[in-house]
Amino acid sequence: MAGSEALVAAARAARDHAVADYSHFKVGAALETADGTIVTGCNIENATYGLTLCAERVAIFKALSEGHRSFRRIAVVADTEEPTPPCGACRQIMWEFGGNLEVILANLHRVAGHHQMRDLFPLPFDKGLL
Ligand code: THU
Repeated sequence: MAGSEALVAAARAARDHAVADYSHFKVGAALETADGTIVTGCNIENATYGLTLCAERVAIFKALSEGHRSFRRIAVVADTEEPTPPCGACRQIMWEFGGNLEVILANLHRVAGHHQMRDLFPLPFDKGLL
């Protein structure tokens, strides 16, 4: 497993594709699968606002749709001084499909934190409760 630089660079590049005409808040994500493939995502907004998809969920759904089922890390990039952490909806999906993923938060210039999903989402509702 390479350092996080390549993953963060992929998230920065994906951010350039963000469709953020309403918030103008562009986010990029890059998900590393168990076999080392990098699958990227960006946030996609639309006129309903509420149907917006965050960069993290786009990356995860893209990866699932391409047959990947096991993931190691995800990098999330926004142009903010303080890191932009995943929203609650994304945490639910990241936990469901990625388990205790490593979450790397970065801005355009630096990596601002490494976290584990179990710390970001400590009392999950998941299939173990069904
Ligand atoms: N957003 C993401 O894509 N990921 C995050 O981690 C936080 C928020 C997006 C959703 C929306 O398009 C914009 O940022 C402002 O909330």
